[in-house]
Amino acid sequence: MNITEKNKVFILEIENTQYAFAAADDGTLCHLHWGKKAQAEDFAARFEAFEKGRNGLEELSKTEYVGNSGQIFRPQAIIMNYADRCRETLLKYQDYSITRSDAFQQLDIVLADEPYNVFVTLSYTIYKGYDIIKRSAKIENRSADTVIIQKAASAEINLPSKNPYYSVNPNGSWGAEFVLEKTLVNNGTLTYESNKGRSSHTNNPFFILYQNADEDIGDVYYGALVWTGNFKTEIFRDWAGNTKAVIGLSDFDFSHTLHAGESFETPAALIGFSSEGFGSMSNQMNAFSVEHILPKRFANEPLPVLYNSWEATFFDVSDEGQQKLAELAARIGCELFVMDDGWFGQRKDDHAGLGDWYVNKKKFPNGLKPLIDKVNSLGMKFGLWFEPEMVNPDSDLYRAHPDWIYHYDTRDRTQIRNQYILNITKPEVKEFAFEVMDKMLCEYNIEYIKWDMNRVFTEPGAENLENAQELWYRHTMAVYEIADRLKEKHPNLQLECCSSGGGRADLGALSHFDMVWTSDNTDPVDRLEIQHGFSMLYPIKCMRAWVTDTNRYARPYDWDFRFNVSMQGSLSIGGNLLNYSDKELDIHRRYIALYKQIRNTVQFGSFYRLASFGNDGIYATQYVRDSQSVLFLCKGVNTLYKDRYYHIKLKGLEENAKYSIEYSGEKLQLSGAYLMNVGLDLELGGTLDSEIIILTKNS
Ligand code: DGJ
Repeated sequence: MNITEKNKVFILEIENTQYAFAAADDGTLCHLHWGKKAQAEDFAARFEAFEKGRNGLEELSKTEYVGNSGQIFRPQAIIMNYADRCRETLLKYQDYSITRSDAFQQLDIVLADEPYNVFVTLSYTIYKGYDIIKRSAKIENRSADTVIIQKAASAEINLPSKNPYYSVNPNGSWGAEFVLEKTLVNNGTLTYESNKGRSSHTNNPFFILYQNADEDIGDVYYGALVWTGNFKTEIFRDWAGNTKAVIGLSDFDFSHTLHAGESFETPAALIGFSSEGFGSMSNQMNAFSVEHILPKRFANEPLPVLYNSWEATFFDVSDEGQQKLAELAARIGCELFVMDDGWFGQRKDDHAGLGDWYVNKKKFPNGLKPLIDKVNSLGMKFGLWFEPEMVNPDSDLYRAHPDWIYHYDTRDRTQIRNQYILNITKPEVKEFAFEVMDKMLCEYNIEYIKWDMNRVFTEPGAENLENAQELWYRHTMAVYEIADRLKEKHPNLQLECCSSGGGRADLGALSHFDMVWTSDNTDPVDRLEIQHGFSMLYPIKCMRAWVTDTNRYARPYDWDFRFNVSMQGSLSIGGNLLNYSDKELDIHRRYIALYKQIRNTVQFGSFYRLASFGNDGIYATQYVRDSQSVLFLCKGVNTLYKDRYYHIKLKGLEENAKYSIEYSGEKLQLSGAYLMNVGLDLELGGTLDSEIIILTKNS
């Protein structure tokens, strides 16, 4: 890891990757290279040649953070409007500085739009052990005039090949988050975005661009925005075959006012390069997120096995009913009991109560203390559901403060799930949202909050703001601020980020919350596809995965299959335990006990996608950590009799070590070399067969 500068050529030497750019004589910051390493001195000579070409063809130039000036017609990184009505942004190189420590190095490049005294600092941070660069931009108005930012991306990137790249991103929906779709980026612009006020179930704020890559081989360029609100990723291929991407805040209904002396910092984007396919990309991002993104307090602790009451009781919660569930949750080995929606205000269904965060006296005549005491006495922590940004029109809060929501006076107020969004860009509303949770945390022994958010934004009027288009940015920042304040005041509080399932499953959420609810769809086969997409760039440990009773397609699931799917993430239980037989509860108990033996490997180990339904007919993942490796095998639905024989080569083991493995009824000792190079023959005959195989390295 090292950052060097010579004659305004900057080279970021990362673990196995090099990223190089240079300031041209006219001040343009030109991209030179991102990929495997060359020798540093090659770049100066190369840059001169590159420079000559660039002058004639500005349109094709490879830039690091370009404005909408001159012949730049492609997606730009930054656009500002100046007081004199100039709507063009032209940034020129000024200066640089480097900060060094053992764990990271940061290069700050200062650019300026000189006539306007507006400075933009691009930050590039590299980290020991990772081929990942954190990028962001800070815009400072050092003039006496007001400047309006119309667009400010977090990063602009350039890819080397002239042939088209493939891009993958979710083409998802509610219940189908992270279902990936592959698109060839031919000429033109491919845009992934959310303008819904949350990162959304549809596209996710990341990019993965590759050619001839699979899990083990091939060049893959990837990036993820550390942001939970509106975003935009533009991937552009020009007529000469150059592929570029711009990732950052969405410019939809966005602008940000900078008065004299004010500044604005974009969210960060992590960008990375792997020459060893998707597997290495995922492992880099998985480990990086745990080390550098997640809130510190619980980052290195395995997540507890939780029970969540939602699918068991929906809104019909009661002291007695929850206590009965808690008894069974403890009996099967759960460590955390979360009461979901329904405990507050006049909440009988989704028509009323949001905003009235006091305990419903009919359901809990003596408050929550008896339930929480019971949960604690059973050896579990207690968690509670909130939806702090929302209000039902049928609530005391809305009757008292109809002006606390985003709205336009001349428009109908659109209800979605019978609720409105509170305008938490108003200080008093933000304070309210903090206080309602803080009060409950002070009053009760609550150690976990599931923070939900169940609707998209409409009529985004924010009359309190001088520039109402700042609301998209300010709302998300307010969510982060409240989450951080809660954690600061209640250090043992764990936070789960939920938005009708995975509508806010992104690295922004994961830099303030400890985990995410991945999807409301708990069907195990669907879930494998959702988990597959999530695992591409996001940390496995944060992927809450419930075992439930759901069976919307009437598939012949057994408990083994359900557990073998959910144990591939952060195991949680969500079914109605009151309906289970002793035998079923015992199956739960055994699997939860097994999960506790393997969870450090699953949540912190190296992770490999060995086979997928589409390509291989089975879904297989493997996790490796220290002396343990865990292999999950899941067979799909509707398979033919002949589709029963599979061959799997394991990964990530030590060639010369011996592993104990119990498989096909036999106890074997096999070398890592055998397991990885020869592999295992497997028979999974029936529809929805599944297996977990645990390997232990001999000491
Ligand atoms: C949506 C969430 O995704 C569910 O898990 C549940 O918490 C409901 N909201 C409760 O209203």
